[in-house]
Amino acid sequence: LGRRIIHFQSIDSTNRKAKELAEQGEPEGTIVVAETQTGGRGCAGRTWDSKPMEGIWMSVILRPTLDLPSVPCITQIACAAVGQALETMVKAVQIKWPNDILVNDKKISGVLTESSGEIDRVQYAVVGIGVNVNQNAEDFLPELAEKATSLKRETGKAQSRQKLCCTILEALERAYLLGDGATGMECAITYCKDHSVTLGRPVSFMENGMEVHGTAVDIDERGGLVVRTPNGVIRHISSGSTLVR
Ligand code: BTN
Repeated sequence: LGRRIIHFQSIDSTNRKAKELAEQGEPEGTIVVAETQTGGRGCAGRTWDSKPMEGIWMSVILRPTLDLPSVPCITQIACAAVGQALETMVKAVQIKWPNDILVNDKKISGVLTESSGEIDRVQYAVVGIGVNVNQNAEDFLPELAEKATSLKRETGKAQSRQKLCCTILEALERAYLLGDGATGMECAITYCKDHSVTLGRPVSFMENGMEVHGTAVDIDERGGLVVRTPNGVIRHISSGSTLVR
C-alpha cells in the first residue's frame, strides 16, 4: 500500500477524491492524503473537522478479492491498524464499534469505509482514516472539546504525522494482505474485541422502524456486532448507522 501517494494541500474530502480515482481504475494501494479538508466526511452523514497541518486525513484504495473482507470487516482492520500504531505512543487505546478509536475515553480517530457495489461484493473500497495528531485543546470545536482528543494532548508534545502515517499503513498492509489467508483479519478482529468499549454494554438499534435494545456480546468474523436482546435472541448488526447511542 502507498506505492502511489497523491497529496493535496487542500481538498474537499480525500474519500470523495479516492472514490473518483477508483472509479477511473486507480489501482489498489493508492493513497490520497491532504493537509486539510474543506468537506471532510464522517459517519452517518456527519462532517469531519480537518484543520490544516494538525492531523492525518487520508484515504486508501483497496480492491478486495471475492473471498476477502466485507466492508465492516475492512473497517475493523483499519481500526486495529490505527489502534496498534497509536499504542506505540499512548496507553489505553480503545475501540468503539464500528469505527471510533478512543484514548482515555475520548475520540482520537475515526474510520469511514465507502465502497462500490454491494456490501459483500465490493469492486473497490475506500478506507478513510482521520487521526487527530497535533491539535491543542482549544483547537476543537466547543461541543467536541470534552469528547475528542489528539495525540499531542495525550502525550504532551507534538508528534510526527509522517511517522504515524507510515506506522498505520504498515499495520494496515499487514492485516489486509494477510487477510487473504484470513489470519490478518482474525487478528484485527481479536484486537478490536480485546480493546472494545462496546462489548458488554447496552446498545440499541433500529429494526423495521422500531428501536430494539440489547447487550453487545461479540464482534463476528465479518466485523458485525453481535447483540443479545433481553429475550435471548441474537442479532448480527453490520452497520453502526443503525445503532442508536
Ligand atoms: C467518523 O468517525 O465519523 C469517520 C471519520 C473519517 C474521517 C476521514 S478523514 C480522511 C477521510 N476523508 C473523509 O472525508 N473522511 C475520512
